Amino acid sequence: MTTDPSARVQILRPTSDADRGWLEAMWNSKWGGEVMVTRGTAHRLTDAVTFIARCGGEPVGAATFVGTTANSGIELLSLNAIVPRRGVGSALLAAVENHARADGFHRIWLITTNDNLDALRFYQRRGYVIAAVHSGAVDRARRLKPGIPEVGYYGIPIHDEVELHKGL
Ligand SMILES: CC(C)(COP(=O)(O)OP(=O)(O)OC[C@H]1O[C@@H](n2cnc3c(N)ncnc32)[C@H](O)[C@@H]1OP(=O)(O)O)[C@@H](O)C(=O)NCCC(=O)NCCS
Repeated sequence: MTTDPSARVQILRPTSDADRGWLEAMWNSKWGGEVMVTRGTAHRLTDAVTFIARCGGEPVGAATFVGTTANSGIELLSLNAIVPRRGVGSALLAAVENHARADGFHRIWLITTNDNLDALRFYQRRGYVIAAVHSGAVDRARRLKPGIPEVGYYGIPIHDEVELHKGL
């Protein structure tokens, strides 16, 4: 990523094999593969709508989401900024929210895990509220995705799903 803090982050849909290769490698390294388990459902990130953030032409982050019905809103499945605290996560999240609004959705929701204190801070600073804590849900999700680590950020054992919502 460029060191110029004023360089603009651009949000685009993946278009090329190079984009898809970069996404696959990033999902493997950050999420242990392209499958995300949320609320007992396994989602393939390759089947979700994807936005890539670019800075100076380089990919620097990505978001994936799925829309179901207008009532249930859209679910943000993944959000990654390769270089943190440079505005990449905010730009991706704003793009997903704008896309959802334009498609007539009134709600966005997501699952993070009990160890992910930085994500909990990030989302709550952007208007998301904790709607539920699903105790032991990650322990159950390991049956579908055995590679989910036992220990996460700050050395915190990962057990629970934290559900966050935002009205659009
Ligand atoms: C959570 C995550 C997506 C946030 O992305 P990010 O790019 O670091 O987020 P941003 O840079 O937009 O915002 C983070 C903070 O940096 C600040 N910031 C942004 N640009 C900055 C800059 N140039 N200089 C200093 N601070 C800056 C923002 O203001 C923000 O602080 P605030 O919340 O107090 O407003 C990122 O940490 C990440 O990829 N985490 C790992 C994966 C993950 O947990 N994803 C979420 C669960 S699905």
